Amino acid sequence: MANSDFYYYFCIAKKVFMDYKSVILAPIVAERERFNAVFDKALQSSNPLLNEVLEHVRHTSGKKMRPMLVLLAAKLFGEVTDATLHAAVALELLHNASLVHDDVVDESDERRGKPSVNAAFSNKVAVLSGDFMLATGLLEVDKSKDLKIMEIVFGMGRDLADGEILQLHNNAIEEHSYEIYYDVIRKKTAVLFEACASVGAISGGASDAEVEVMRRFGEYIGLCFQIKDDIFDYISDSKQLGKPTGNDMREGKLTLPVLYALNQTKDAEAHRIAAKVKAGTVDVEEISWLINFAIGEGGIQYAESVMEDLRAKAVDLLKNFPPTEVKTALLAYLDFVIYREK
Ligand code: IPE
Ligand code: IPE
Ligand code: MG
Ligand code: MG
Repeated sequence: MANSDFYYYFCIAKKVFMDYKSVILAPIVAERERFNAVFDKALQSSNPLLNEVLEHVRHTSGKKMRPMLVLLAAKLFGEVTDATLHAAVALELLHNASLVHDDVVDESDERRGKPSVNAAFSNKVAVLSGDFMLATGLLEVDKSKDLKIMEIVFGMGRDLADGEILQLHNNAIEEHSYEIYYDVIRKKTAVLFEACASVGAISGGASDAEVEVMRRFGEYIGLCFQIKDDIFDYISDSKQLGKPTGNDMREGKLTLPVLYALNQTKDAEAHRIAAKVKAGTVDVEEISWLINFAIGEGGIQYAESVMEDLRAKAVDLLKNFPPTEVKTALLAYLDFVIYREK
C-alpha cells in the first residue's frame, strides 16, 4: 500500500478530519490550471449582453467537480491530453448550461449563493445564453477529435433533458415510486458523472472494459451526489435557521428520504400532504410537517445507507488498480461527495 493510501485509510478508520479537497487535487494541480484557462476562454463572447451573462456565470462558477473527475480518470490510465481538457471543458459547459436552464424551469432566483441568470437578467436571456453555452460545449467536444468521446457527450446531453422532463412529468404521477426517482436522478445527474469518468478514461488510453468500469464508478458517484443534494434539502438550513428548507417539495419533488417514509407508512396525513406536494398546492407548514415526518421515520438514515451501499460498490470497482496518488484521489472524491457538509 502506498503511503498516501495508508494515510487515507488511516484517516477513514479513525474518522479523523481530513481535507478531501487537497487529496483530490494533489495529482492534478497543473492540469487544473490548464483546464481553468481553456474554460474561462470558452465563456467569452464579442456580443456585449451575452458577454455580461457569461461573465456572471464565470464569476459564480461552482465547485468544478465534473472536470476534476475527467482529469483524474485520464490520469488513472495515462496523461491528461488536449482531448482530455477539451472534453472536461465541454462537460463543465454543458453542466452550467443545464443549470441556467434548470433555474428557468424551477423558477429559481438563486444559484451558488448569487442571483441566477434568469433573476439577474431574464428568462429569455437565460434560455438563449444557456443555448449558447450548450453549443459552445459541443464545439469544445468536437475539438477532442475523438468519436467515442463525442458520442458519449452528445448522448449525455439528451439524457439530461430527458431526466428533467421525466421529473416534471413524475410530479403528475400519484404513486411514490423508487424506480422513477432513481431513473430521474440517474438521467438528470448521474449521466454527467458517468460521462466525465468515461471520457476521461478514453482520453487517457483506457480499454473498452476499463472505460466501462469507470462509467459505473461515475454512475455511483453521480447517484450519491444527487441523493446527498436531496438530503441537504431536509437539513441544510437547520443549523442557521432552526428549520429545514424544503425547496424540493415547493418544486413538487418528493426525494428519497420522504419516499422511504411514505413507503413505510399508511399515515393518511403524510399521504395527503405528499399528494399536495405533487399537485403544487402545498403550503409552508405542510412542507415543514412532511419533512419532520420523513426525518422521524428514519428517511435520512435510509438515504445515507443507500449511499453507503453505492460507495461499497464504487470502491470495489477500483480494487484491482494499484495504489497510486490518483486512485487515492478518486476514493477521496467519492467520499467528498458522500460526506461533504455542503
Ligand atoms: C448542482 O450541481 C446540480 C445538481 C446536480 C444538484 P453542483 O452542486 O455540482 O453545482 P456547482 O457546479 O458546484 O455549482
Ligand atoms: C439540477 O437539478 C439540474 C440538473 C441536474 C440538470 P435540481 O433542480 O434538482 O437542483 P438545484 O437545486 O436546482 O441545483
Ligand atoms: Mg430542477
Ligand atoms: Mg433546480
